[in-house]
Amino acid sequence: AFTPRVFSGIQPSGDLHLGNYLGALKRFADAQDRGVQSLYCMVDLHAITVWQEPERLRHATRELTAGFIASGLDPEKSILFNQSQVPEHTQMAWVFNCVARMGWMKRMTQFKDKAGKNAENASLGLFGYPALMAADILVYHATHVPVGEDQKQHLELTRDIAAKFNHDYETEFFPMPEPVIEGAATRVMSLRDGSKKMSKSDPSDMSRINMTDDADTISRKIRKAKTDPEPLPSDLGGLDGRPEARNLVNIYAGLADMSAEAVIAEMGGRAFSEFKPLLADLAVSRMAPISEEMGRLMQEPAEIDAILCRGSDRAREIAAPILRKTYDIVGM
Ligand code: ADP
Ligand code: NA
Repeated sequence: AFTPRVFSGIQPSGDLHLGNYLGALKRFADAQDRGVQSLYCMVDLHAITVWQEPERLRHATRELTAGFIASGLDPEKSILFNQSQVPEHTQMAWVFNCVARMGWMKRMTQFKDKAGKNAENASLGLFGYPALMAADILVYHATHVPVGEDQKQHLELTRDIAAKFNHDYETEFFPMPEPVIEGAATRVMSLRDGSKKMSKSDPSDMSRINMTDDADTISRKIRKAKTDPEPLPSDLGGLDGRPEARNLVNIYAGLADMSAEAVIAEMGGRAFSEFKPLLADLAVSRMAPISEEMGRLMQEPAEIDAILCRGSDRAREIAAPILRKTYDIVGM
């Protein structure tokens, strides 16, 4: 049996937003006191599978780290680190490149989505990315991986790689990591189109609430959010077919640590002209202090770098013996 251990990574690319907070960072912070060892990785090696401006990447890595800390992740309790500072990830990834089959990789839908029509011009790294992700997880013998719905297929590939390695080398060395999938309620949709995810990869979406937004900006974006003319329904079923209304209720629930049912029980029957200011106040009270703390941390880049450095040392203490044993099993 494997000791429970959590691993999750986020790419330092683009701006962190309310969806990243409610769907990932806040959930990580809430889980922190359950006593399970957790590693959170700024996956810069994944980020460079598509072009990144060097100075922007450096900035985004620090800002993501600041986002973790400002969201309540304590670098003493959780291990916060930068992927490129732990060479065991790429060393393990090479072994997994040799375990994974071309056919498996070709089935990855995210590669097809990201490479688009011009797949011949995509980087080799973008194609091999899921094998590096398997290494990120398995080099720590992680057992639980909080991921978005879009990463489910990659996590299945991780399990396939672990299973094939264990089978080929007649060992039970690698665990089968379990996905911890965010629920629909924690999926934050765009404030201008309730059918699209709030996403850092859509620079044209000016409605997106970024984690670095100040109080006025947060408030303004909530007030401008698209809605329909009906008041909030008196039961959850009344949100069917009303994606924008459902999204605002879910955001309220996420920020207030309530269920969507409880929000409807309290707010049902109210017009948006009444509900939106309440939601705006709640969003400001939860998000503005995080934004301020991120700003403060970003004034001290050396402090952030030192936190990542310590985190990488702690991560390597776990990864190095697992990599060494893996090489030994392989005959190296
Ligand atoms: P990456 O490309 O590094 O995975 P994403 O921004 O897609 O970065 O996701 C980072 C984390 O934030 C993931 O755990 C993902 O599930 C979560 N996340 C991203 N967008 C949303 C959203 N709109 N609602 C809820 N969670 C989200
Ligand atoms: Na993603």
